[in-house]
Amino acid sequence: MSILITNIKQLLQVHKHNVTIIKGNAMKTLSLLENAYVYIEHDTIIEYGVMKDCHGIEAEITVDATGKIVLPSWCDSHTHIVYAGNRTSEFVDRINGLSYAEIANNGGGILNSAKLLQNTSEDDLYDQSIKRLDELIKMGTGAVEIKTGYGLTVEAELKMLRVIKRIKQESQAIIIPTILAAHAIPEAYRSKKEDYIKLITEELIPKAAKLNIAHYIDVFCEEGYFDIEDTETILKAGLKHNLRPKIHVNQFNILGGVALGVKHNALSVDHLEELDENDVKALKNSDTIPVALPGCSYFLSIPYTPARQLIDAGLPLAIATDYNPGSAPSGNMNFIVGAACVKLKLTPEEAINAATINGAYAMGISNMYGSITRGKKANLIITKPLNHYSEIPYAFAHNPVEQVIINGQLL
Ligand code: NIG
Ligand code: FE
Repeated sequence: MSILITNIKQLLQVHKHNVTIIKGNAMKTLSLLENAYVYIEHDTIIEYGVMKDCHGIEAEITVDATGKIVLPSWCDSHTHIVYAGNRTSEFVDRINGLSYAEIANNGGGILNSAKLLQNTSEDDLYDQSIKRLDELIKMGTGAVEIKTGYGLTVEAELKMLRVIKRIKQESQAIIIPTILAAHAIPEAYRSKKEDYIKLITEELIPKAAKLNIAHYIDVFCEEGYFDIEDTETILKAGLKHNLRPKIHVNQFNILGGVALGVKHNALSVDHLEELDENDVKALKNSDTIPVALPGCSYFLSIPYTPARQLIDAGLPLAIATDYNPGSAPSGNMNFIVGAACVKLKLTPEEAINAATINGAYAMGISNMYGSITRGKKANLIITKPLNHYSEIPYAFAHNPVEQVIINGQLL
């Protein structure tokens, strides 16, 4: 199939050369063309430019984007969208004054989701999860990282991986799977955490690696979950199977997870609601990207990641939804871009860079996704009529997306 999109008011994130990450001060610039076109063949961006240079292109489908903005699809580099049921009762408990930690200590939280998932059939889990993904696609997300971590037994974690694999086969969206068996310590291992870590490193990771689905290994490095030593043990076991680290750190406490991640060449370190100078120093001159999750801060009423400190130190930043039943039950990247502006004090240009090219980097796919570049995959958003791209974060909680193209298919 070939598609020509014409009369685009603003075509965002246009790069002649294949950029794969945008850092520091450069994030303030969003490269764009006004009154532009894009031409797609099969799943690839073939050509783009300004309308006065758009002659002689014959496409099977022509989309007139007069008054509309076209940009790369959102790249959501941190989600937990494979889960069963929900945790609305904990939501109400929190409104009534309990903290996230108190709920978890009473057997709620991640363990609650694990129980639900263990008792849900693979087909049902698939149906619930693909529905969430379809909703995200309609809101402009074209690439999604999905973590395990609500199984917490070998069988249930493998069930999650098989569901993620099926989603990857069935969906048009790009799916990047991550193993997060070290998400919480299961009830049965409460007084013998070492045994659970052994189960992860000696049985679960080797079996999961055999399925040949996952790209990354994740650990919830946090007080009451997995400490620095546990985290390093699990990362090393993952690395043996070519699973690169991509980890949860500094959500509530600073344990040194950022430096540990950098030491093991993590692709990303995510959360960072708490951050100190040592963390910033560790990230400098590394290939590890920090990822902020403002939806989690919003929902749990915890601090927002000090994103300015990171960007102003010359570092890159990605933003993602953290879509999960406990701390961020929304996968709307449009809201995340808005929240990044309002709460992290990113400019619209920085927020859009963080949600496109840098999100793609945080999934290891920015050589093919995240910008409008000849030869890159055609994953695009066509917005409703807007005067300027700043209206995307400005009109928070609106859905500015009118149509999406994923892998060259107009959905
Ligand atoms: O990223 N922090 C750990 N994991 C999730 C929350 C999981 C849950 O509460 O179900 C997060 O916020
Ligand atoms: Fe998370």
